[in-house]
Amino acid sequence: MDIRDNHHQNGNYAELIKERLPDDIIEIIHFSQTVASELCCRLFLVGGIVRDLFLGIQNYDVDFVVEGDGIIFAEKLNRIIGGNITIYEKFNTANIVTKKGIEIDIATARRETYKSPAALPQVEKSSIECDLSRRDFTINALAISLNDNTYGELLDYFYGKKDLIDRKIKILHDASFIEDPLRIFRAIRFKHRLNFEIEENTWDLAKRAVESGIFNNITIERVIEELYYIFKEDNNVAMLQDLNKLNILKKIFPEINSWNSVYYLFKKCNESIEWFCRIGERELNIDKIFLYVMIFCYVADDKYTICKKFGLSKVQIETIRNICLYENHIIKELNKRNLTAYEIAIILKGIHNEELVLLTAISYNKKEVKTNIKKYFNNVKQVKLCITGKDIKEYGIKPGPLYKTILDKIYKEKVNGNIHTKEEELELLKVLTEKSREDELFV
Ligand code: CTP
Repeated sequence: MDIRDNHHQNGNYAELIKERLPDDIIEIIHFSQTVASELCCRLFLVGGIVRDLFLGIQNYDVDFVVEGDGIIFAEKLNRIIGGNITIYEKFNTANIVTKKGIEIDIATARRETYKSPAALPQVEKSSIECDLSRRDFTINALAISLNDNTYGELLDYFYGKKDLIDRKIKILHDASFIEDPLRIFRAIRFKHRLNFEIEENTWDLAKRAVESGIFNNITIERVIEELYYIFKEDNNVAMLQDLNKLNILKKIFPEINSWNSVYYLFKKCNESIEWFCRIGERELNIDKIFLYVMIFCYVADDKYTICKKFGLSKVQIETIRNICLYENHIIKELNKRNLTAYEIAIILKGIHNEELVLLTAISYNKKEVKTNIKKYFNNVKQVKLCITGKDIKEYGIKPGPLYKTILDKIYKEKVNGNIHTKEEELELLKVLTEKSREDELFV
């Protein structure tokens, strides 16, 4: 079914729901319908799931708005589905995570008023129309009715469906970015994720809001939370570039002078991640957000201030410090021909995947570095000893530094491919303990 098909004025999309949403969500919708009719309240599917339903994009985060009491509704619904419920009294909202991991957000239809520009809003109960009119973009202000008699009917007060067809990101009213400047981040995020355009007036208003200094009224924590959503997107470089077309990041992070270096490293890190996956690390375990934060810190002139802005832990700051201190040394050592697997293991000992991705990005055109990192993934990383200190103890050696020496020698032979099995490790252990006995190396 196409979004252009109109069944009546705004269209009825019961069929689309049936076609595009998985059975688990349809089941949740039916339970919710029952609860809504018991409570005699109007119930709607809203926000991102409706937008993506029309676009044919998979989105299983269920967003309900209830005209009435959202919390009572959520509690009643959860009694049926037996999920994990969290209630936010202050906002009249609730969140349920079902046993299968589906997230359901339930909100009471509300009106929001802003005491001052960019402040957090005051919330009061209202109608679905008011609720939709407080939202960010026309494409996110669509609702589908879920009550029995109106099931599937679309509420489209702001021509969101037309903007979905025209692929436009458009705010609902001129003060939108003044009320919530973080919507500028969202506009850019949706633009690149969905391959839409930001409508001209919307872009101009974003520009003016930034020029008025609106971001000075927002805490850095809120900005960073929104920035992390951008980090998580595939097209994050284009998003950062757009943010800087509006001078946003430049103003928030004056510690960074070379934004081109940031974009370059983001691109190269993204390529490195793909490359790592191709060369064998199919499921690379990596904290992407921390990787991108590392790039910001690595490029910044004043690293301390920027680490503080990101609220990094001591361990994270230490990791960044190490990369900055030792990157030249590590790259120099890795940029050598014919390194053995053991030599590579020593150079990269204790390194995290995020650091490795960044190192690869920094030294992107150094052939030997890449060869050795590939070797690290293929021949080094997965090599672990089967024997432990316990096996050494059986030879009557007292625990001490000798243990490390012995284990290291066995590891060297294993990682270099000279021994492979536990039996071979034990054989070598025997030889080494006898040798250390002869050398009177007992502690
Ligand atoms: N919303 C808004 N203004 C914001 C944040 C959210 O109006 N600053 C509204 C939008 O209607 C949005 C809905 O709340 O669709 C849900 O927000 P969220 O889950 O953050 O966004 P989604 O649209 O679901 O986008 P995503 O796919 O990134 O989760």
